[in-house]
Amino acid sequence: MRMVDLIIKKRQGETLSRREIAFWIDGYVKGIIPDYQTSAMAMAILFKGMNEEEVINLTDLMEHSGETLDLSNLKGVKVDKHSTGGVGDKTSLVLGPMVVACGATLAKLSGRGLGHTGGTLDKLESIPGFNIAISGERFTNQVNDIGIVIAGQTQSLVPADKKMYALRDVTGTVESIPLIAASVMSKKLAAGTDAILLDVTLGNGAFMKDIDQARTLAKLMVKIGNGLNRDTRAVLSNMNEPLGMAVGNALEVKEAIAALRGEGPEDLMELCYTGGAVMLEQAKLCKDQAEGRKMLEQCIKDGSAFNKFVEMVKAQDGDIEYILHPEKFQVAKNIVPIYAKQSGYVKSIDALEIGLSSMRLGGGRETLNDVIDMSAGIMLNKKVGDKIASGEVLCYLHSNKDVDVINKISKDVAKSFEITKDFVEKPRVILEIIQ
Ligand code: URA
Repeated sequence: MRMVDLIIKKRQGETLSRREIAFWIDGYVKGIIPDYQTSAMAMAILFKGMNEEEVINLTDLMEHSGETLDLSNLKGVKVDKHSTGGVGDKTSLVLGPMVVACGATLAKLSGRGLGHTGGTLDKLESIPGFNIAISGERFTNQVNDIGIVIAGQTQSLVPADKKMYALRDVTGTVESIPLIAASVMSKKLAAGTDAILLDVTLGNGAFMKDIDQARTLAKLMVKIGNGLNRDTRAVLSNMNEPLGMAVGNALEVKEAIAALRGEGPEDLMELCYTGGAVMLEQAKLCKDQAEGRKMLEQCIKDGSAFNKFVEMVKAQDGDIEYILHPEKFQVAKNIVPIYAKQSGYVKSIDALEIGLSSMRLGGGRETLNDVIDMSAGIMLNKKVGDKIASGEVLCYLHSNKDVDVINKISKDVAKSFEITKDFVEKPRVILEIIQ
């Protein structure tokens, strides 16, 4: 078999057999098939697609390209949640402790941010001391002791995705439904949980730009997961504006702490309550989602979700003083307000531009080796549907960069807010649940 023939076959829109996909994935992981041939194959898949059987085969072969975790000896029903990426998405930090406070078990492997999207690991590392390198016995013990761990993916888990995702990121091949489905599901399946909730984001800050694409991706992933005996469900969520008010690592952790204390922004809480209720139902901890929602509301009210987060930070060597007193987090040297130039209603906030600007302020990475400034980012003061008067603050830029650099970025940020005279309804955060 020759890789070039497989690339041509896919370029012509033909179907690849399991043996052919195995030849590609196995050869790629072993370094026999070079990056340039995998790039060409990814591009052919992006244009020609894959049928369901091909995606299932690709997922399965990627899942087994390295080690897989066996969590069957751990206590409780293990649930996991995965977002396809967004701006200001700190959901895992809030939702994780909430569902665990209600009796579920969360053994979660998370990733880092790249480009305009943030990553849970970077956010957690803005807590001084927090250790994401938890593996093996310590990982298992922590899950059994407190029911929750959020750690970094080890090198040996799904190496095919690690190599391929980095390549797709620089070859314009991220936005392919079969490739995203196989990437997400291979990782979730290898991580060994019983139930999976997928948050498929859609909008200009997400990889899926419209609801039809997002629905197709979500249904495909749900089918793959259920086909492999994991209760898999999905929510489609709005990423046409950032989630919550905070974008940037420490700013988002502070927002997550506030949310766990019952002072979270409406859209973030709605996503946590709705998504959390689905997870509790998957874990068979409630009779239906309405009861699950009540349990989640109660764990915020009685402080048990907040306490669970403190327990996790402590177990992973983080300094809990920062959680108990979030004002201790380092604040950026420059905080620059952006003012509205006209009165009316906020019609749209360009989530992609806000994510990119936060990255340029120091809050994200352009390449994997960049060092993040944990205090940098953007705090929104207004969301879509809010009334605004001319001269009121739209948002604040937080950065340690020179004022000249910040001033340049502020022009792009100002342009990302669209204001209209007409009334604008607040958008829904959850657009659909697929189960
Ligand atoms: N998230 C992933 O894990 N993989 C993708 O391909 C896209 C989003």
